[in-house]
Amino acid sequence: CKRMELPPRPKLFDFHGVSMTNYFTGNWDNVQNFQARPDDILIATYPKAGTTWVSYILDLLYYVQTAPERQRPIFEKVPFLELLIPLYPPGVEVLDKLTTSPRLIKSHLPVQLLPKSFWEQNCRIVYVARNAKDSAVSYFHFDRMNRTQPEPGDWNNFLQRFMDGKMVFGSWYDHVTGWWEKKQTHSKILYLFYEDMVEDTGRELDRLCSYLGLSPSAEEKERVRGVVQFDNMKKNSMANYSTLPIMDFKISPFMRKGKVGDWKNHFTVAQNEQFDEDYKMKNTTVQFRTVV
Ligand code: A3P
Repeated sequence: CKRMELPPRPKLFDFHGVSMTNYFTGNWDNVQNFQARPDDILIATYPKAGTTWVSYILDLLYYVQTAPERQRPIFEKVPFLELLIPLYPPGVEVLDKLTTSPRLIKSHLPVQLLPKSFWEQNCRIVYVARNAKDSAVSYFHFDRMNRTQPEPGDWNNFLQRFMDGKMVFGSWYDHVTGWWEKKQTHSKILYLFYEDMVEDTGRELDRLCSYLGLSPSAEEKERVRGVVQFDNMKKNSMANYSTLPIMDFKISPFMRKGKVGDWKNHFTVAQNEQFDEDYKMKNTTVQFRTVV
């Protein structure tokens, strides 16, 4: 049998002031003209904040009864709006064809680049944020194993690039603060923290349900909580990305550790001091925990 041609590693370039690759800008006109529907639910994150976790929770909350046809990988059930990679249909195209309601939509776009129809339709938006240090570590391992990301280089250089905001989808600092500021004036944004979800998944599940106006029974909630525990999602081929050939799990699995504080195993004392010194979050009220 013929081996599938894997896409090449992309280059990073400046796109409206945000570092990007062509895998997320190649379909830009269609992304910007995307027609959101009023009942769409957007899951917006900076990469590695727990997007897949929250996507799976929402999928279970909305579609648990329609099991057979939903037995598909999470990246097909919650399409990635701006994605345009070889071998797969563009995210916009998949979304346009979806007839289920509500559509669950994933995006990593910074707030200023989100297609305007999401605001016009007043869609519900769940933003998930994760502390910078663990995000950087998770992103580093992701870039090692994912062929559609630029080569990460060594950890020290990668961390410097992270501090400089030269990552795919731009600066972590700008992303989390941009969405945080938007939330102050836009009531449809629920801003969740990865650390809170690790600390007490049930409590954050309750917050999600009340935001979405859902009232699952206690048993149903307990079931969802069990299914989305890290160890269970790691084993679940519908949730763990193991069916996606662009990722090489021999280098690092997608469901890697699922912890708060793994940064301590990666940052040297000097790197940690430099990172804290450089931390570009003086002018915002959003606060992160790096341990729970
Ligand atoms: P680590 O690399 O630190 O393990 P995203 O889905 O936004 O790409 O985020 C991926 C990160 O979320 C990975 O972090 C992954 O392990 C973690 N994650 C995914 N599902 C999780 C779960 N159920 N519980 C805790 N962490 C989870």
